[in-house]
Amino acid sequence: RMEVTETFAGIALPGHLHTQESLAFASAFTFRPTDVLIATYPKSGTTWMQEILTLLYSLGDARPAKTIPNWERAPWLEQIYCREALRDTETPRLLTTHLPAHVLAPALQRSKAKVIYVARNPKDVAVSFYHFHHLAKFLPDPSSFDAFLTQFLKGTVHYGSWFDHVKGWLGQRHLLDILYVTYEELHQDLRGTAQRLSTFLGCPLTPGTLTALEQHCTFSAMRDNAMANYSLIPAEIMDHSQGRFMRKGVVGDWRSHFSPEQNALFNRRYQEEMRDMELPSQWPM
Ligand code: PPS
Repeated sequence: RMEVTETFAGIALPGHLHTQESLAFASAFTFRPTDVLIATYPKSGTTWMQEILTLLYSLGDARPAKTIPNWERAPWLEQIYCREALRDTETPRLLTTHLPAHVLAPALQRSKAKVIYVARNPKDVAVSFYHFHHLAKFLPDPSSFDAFLTQFLKGTVHYGSWFDHVKGWLGQRHLLDILYVTYEELHQDLRGTAQRLSTFLGCPLTPGTLTALEQHCTFSAMRDNAMANYSLIPAEIMDHSQGRFMRKGVVGDWRSHFSPEQNALFNRRYQEEMRDMELPSQWPM
């Protein structure tokens, strides 16, 4: 394992992708009014949204999605290569972040940039994140699922607490130009969500674009697209013999991982943490 950890704002982050310098760059970022930022807790539909927005902005032309890796099409603000990746990007720029809202909110509030926050049922996030720890060599070696779940609920996993992340970004509802989308909605109604995105972004969506978008953003199309499935990443960083980045892509996989005890514990913590929140959708718990 090449695991090195960088700590920032009380959160552990993979050290090979983040430095204090890259994190300072993100916190002090000057957003343009035309920027579009995808914000997510890991494993919530980041890659899917990157692909959807790529197709939306290319007006259905699949070439960018097929020839440019997703981390160049929509670079992570906080990662070391961001400055370089943005050098000759034309507007509108697509950006991605896993950072908590309180780090980016000041810079975003000063700007007119648009934010798309994607959230997923946290039980499925925990399962997806657990499996990802097996192939991502920059994350700690996961022991049992039970031990991982305990850390996930405590918020001591890399990228911090899911609860704080979601609550932080939901708290920006009235302060930013922000659209909330769930992973489950993308599953249930990709067309409707693409239409909602097009309205929010002021980006036209013709029937032709919609057809191309639907075709290129399915799980199987993305699993087979080297520019979206992370197969270009060397094995020392992502060991694809340990599993695929595009793992299952389904809703409710937690049901085949959680014991009744784990589920009861999770529900209790969820109630405590999310009781007073106005959630974008009720997750199937
Ligand atoms: S990351 O590492 O934070 O960028 O991961 P992220 O992209 O947020 O989440 C990865 C999970 O999203 C699933 N995925 C999809 N599901 C359905 N359809 C499409 N097109 C799709 N693209 C990605 C991916 O399979 C991961 O979920 P799991 O449950 O592990 O399969």
